[in-house]
Amino acid sequence: MSLTLTTAHTWIERWDRQQEGYLPDRELMFAVIADAVTAQTDHPAPLVLDVACGPGSLGARIRDRLPSARVIGIDTDPVLLELARAAYGFELVDHNLGDPAWFSALPGEPVDAIVSTTALHWLPADQLAAFYTQAATLLRPGGILLNGDDMATHTVDIDYLDQAVGTGQIEREGVGDRENWADFWTAITAEPELSTAVAERDRRRWDHPENNNVTYEQHRTLLREAGFHSSGTIWQYGRRRILAAVK
Ligand SMILES: C[S@@+](CC[C@H](N)C(=O)[O-])C[C@H]1O[C@@H](n2cnc3c(N)ncnc32)[C@H](O)[C@@H]1O
Repeated sequence: MSLTLTTAHTWIERWDRQQEGYLPDRELMFAVIADAVTAQTDHPAPLVLDVACGPGSLGARIRDRLPSARVIGIDTDPVLLELARAAYGFELVDHNLGDPAWFSALPGEPVDAIVSTTALHWLPADQLAAFYTQAATLLRPGGILLNGDDMATHTVDIDYLDQAVGTGQIEREGVGDRENWADFWTAITAEPELSTAVAERDRRRWDHPENNNVTYEQHRTLLREAGFHSSGTIWQYGRRRILAAVK
């Protein structure tokens, strides 16, 4: 049984609502990332990588903003890739970022922007460092990397406040009772149209930390060591930031 467009959109909509239970301003983050890609890129058809793209929500928003962009999503979850493939139709690469050759299936041309949301905290610190180094190699000079994710700061008093702000936001936005990650996965793994992808997901389960606990300051150090000449926060709400780095 193959995945229909309607079923794919239904699950992506459910994914997006579930993710907003953790990130109430997720759509704003997508818009900010699209703003930054647009501002930094003067190529008429920029090449944009959505790294750890999941079902493609960010890549789709980038393509809505920049219809001439060539968007390539990379992920290793067969279920989420199947949703992206059916719903959005942009190019997808099935590769684990922990494999040092994750970039080998990409076109051999300079990349204008590398974007990611709520994913790079799954990479152990050594893999994150290797990923940033490879990202700097792939980007053209002046190219931009944008990582939207939770990042603690070294400054303990400020990190305490950042966490309090995040908790307050969930309460204010009334998203605390959204479907959670575990319930979403219980539901989607029973979807008959995704049975082949679900079986493959079970087969290839890979070990990863829940959170690599790499701080904001450590991210910036890794980015500098990887060859990015500037980096900093372009948007923040509590611990959640969009960290931009320019090659
Ligand atoms: C919380 S989801 C976020 C997905 C998407 N970026 C979004 O914002 O909807 C984390 C994603 O990271 C992907 N991911 C985590 N570790 C990965 C790895 N080592 N290689 C490739 N993808 C990975 C997962 O498969 C999942 O799609």
